[in-house]
Amino acid sequence: MDCTLLITIFVTFHVLVPIVSSYGHANMCQAFCGNLKIDYPFALQSGCGHPGFRELLFCINDVLMFHISSGSYRVLDIDYPYQSLVLHDPHMSTCDSVVLGGRGNGFVVEQWRAPYLNPTSDNVFMLIGCSSESPLFQGYHGKHSPCRNVSGMSCEEYYGCPGWDMIRPNQDGPVYGSGPPECCALPFEDIKAVNLSKLGCQGYSSAYSLAPLRRAGPDEWSYGIEVKYSMQGNVGFCRACEATGGSCGHDIDDKNDLCLCEGWNSTATCDLVHSESHRRKWSLVVALAGFVIGTIILGTSHLA
Ligand SMILES: *[C@@H]1O[C@H](CO)[C@@H](O)[C@H](O)[C@H]1NC(C)=O
Ligand SMILES: *[C@@H]1O[C@H](CO)[C@@H](O)[C@H](O)[C@H]1NC(C)=O
Ligand SMILES: *[C@@H]1O[C@H](CO)[C@@H](O)[C@H](O)[C@H]1NC(C)=O
Repeated sequence: MDCTLLITIFVTFHVLVPIVSSYGHANMCQAFCGNLKIDYPFALQSGCGHPGFRELLFCINDVLMFHISSGSYRVLDIDYPYQSLVLHDPHMSTCDSVVLGGRGNGFVVEQWRAPYLNPTSDNVFMLIGCSSESPLFQGYHGKHSPCRNVSGMSCEEYYGCPGWDMIRPNQDGPVYGSGPPECCALPFEDIKAVNLSKLGCQGYSSAYSLAPLRRAGPDEWSYGIEVKYSMQGNVGFCRACEATGGSCGHDIDDKNDLCLCEGWNSTATCDLVHSESHRRKWSLVVALAGFVIGTIILGTSHLA
């Protein structure tokens, strides 16, 4: 056989195929908002990221905002290895100020999104100024209360914050009496939703402990809502997609995972040979190779 033919076949399959399949190595979905990196499962563009986190993050003037049914929060940090993010609500009470009037967001997620987002078990919610009619205190009838300490953080300590001096200038400490406590600390899993109007509370604070570090006092706690995110076991899909130069996304209509490749989308990876959903470009390569080989065969037969 003519050695030109062999070389052509070799060149076609070893040069042309890798060139076609290497398209799309620039990640189409990664982005930055200010100095926060937005990566899988999160995204700013529609069709990018995991479907459980769609329409969740928005970048407004370099400030990353997180939007759920209870409101908008500023994202202070995203920790990808620990799969958590920290949210800030401007109307949340801190050590320096106790905000009343029910202005805080609390934390309520849409039901369909709940499996993907959950405040961590180390995160304490401290509900402030709740009425005695609050569902929190129903069913307890003066026995023990639902309030407890979370990760070493308690309302007893929180009362020592300067924020309390401003709303109760003439008192030395919290008012203890027959009524409910002024502050009730709980982990999220005890109530599943922090809805101030539903719980009949005036305000709330949220703090998280940076385990294994135990912060000495409430002025050293980290204030914010630490949320753990979960991808429900399809991290493997994204890893395989990215390994072939794709960006992990989803179908805008049916919400199924999609690997976004340059010029086409795959339900698996951007690997031309192994991807079932990509026959068109592959057959184009085969046709092109056939054409080149055919031309060479014709050319060599003319010469013969
Ligand atoms: C691939 O999917 C993304 C996200 O669903 C969509 O925006 C884009 O138009 C699709 N591209 C092609 C070539 O179908
Ligand atoms: C909070 O509770 C109120 C009263 O029950 C309800 O109208 C409102 O929709 C709830 N908010 C959220 C975000 O679920
Ligand atoms: C919570 O911790 C405080 C000390 O910080 C303690 O006085 C209080 O009894 C504890 N409360 C509960 C319910 O364990």
